Amino acid sequence: MLKRNRRLRKSEAIRSLVRETSISPNDFIVPLFVVEGKGVEEEIASMPNYYRYSLDTLKTEIKELWAMGLKSVLLFVKVPYNLKDNEGKEALNPDGLMQKAIKTVKDTCPEMIVMTDVALDPYSQYGHDGIVAKGEIINDPTNSFLAKMGLSHAQAGADIVAPSDMMDGRILAMRTLLEDEGFHNTGIMSYSAKYASAFYGPFRDALDSAPVDLQDIPKDKTTYQMDPANRNEAVKETLMDIAEGADIVMVKPGLCYLDIVRDISNVVDVPVAVYQVSGEYAMLKAAAERGWLDHDAVMMEQILSIKRAGATMIASYFAKDVVKLLN
Ligand code: PBG
Repeated sequence: MLKRNRRLRKSEAIRSLVRETSISPNDFIVPLFVVEGKGVEEEIASMPNYYRYSLDTLKTEIKELWAMGLKSVLLFVKVPYNLKDNEGKEALNPDGLMQKAIKTVKDTCPEMIVMTDVALDPYSQYGHDGIVAKGEIINDPTNSFLAKMGLSHAQAGADIVAPSDMMDGRILAMRTLLEDEGFHNTGIMSYSAKYASAFYGPFRDALDSAPVDLQDIPKDKTTYQMDPANRNEAVKETLMDIAEGADIVMVKPGLCYLDIVRDISNVVDVPVAVYQVSGEYAMLKAAAERGWLDHDAVMMEQILSIKRAGATMIASYFAKDVVKLLN
């Protein structure tokens, strides 16, 4: 034999010398759930060891993340039912929970990168990402609203707004309004290839934001989020978002969609984010709780695989667990 691949595998030292992919705290975006109240740190039932924070406990968490080397967060808010409507009006409240959360993070740690979710679902009485009319999620009026929502987050101090709604043309609408209002340095991370996935279940529990089961209201998000059967369409969606002004594009969920991550990272010239979603987190936690999988080993293998597939950054509920293990 002239070639023996095992020569480069014979010790940890040589394996680390030839290793193609590595993980560091710089790779992560930490999703955070914020609720009204004081002193709140509630564990999410379907996401063991993951919590909803009120603004005061959020401060503590932000300091801890920064000290660990985790330098970017993605904020989501849980909106009380009485503030929900069809148009998501509360989303534009300058003193709303999201706007206060952005300021809280920036006051606590000015250098922390604050990203915000832009979509109607936590604010929608129907649990949809856009405005509902005649049994449809109406595209263009939703875009005007989302642009205003993005602007409101920028005004509160967000560094990057992250539209997760999958309306057509929302990046252009948002970029245009941000430019017109002087927010030239506010970035857009677009959820570009976001699939209509059943892996979002625990997230919808966390925010109480699942689509409602009512007559004449679509029961799922299949008319706007992508069909899991499609691959070429993901590239088309992503290139359109880049043309409309997205600074970062995203594939979501993670593990089941690594072929998409590779396709996209091969063709785009912007950073690619991957969202390892709530259901992926829940699956591993549940299997590990039963002793069926080695939590830490499987977690690291998953993160490594997402990065190997082409992710520049990973939004992950495992971020803290991973960094603790790296140290
Ligand atoms: C809201 C949004 C969702 C997620 C991120 N932003 C849920 C959805 O689209 O229904 C899912 C994240 C996760 O499951 O971790 N548009």
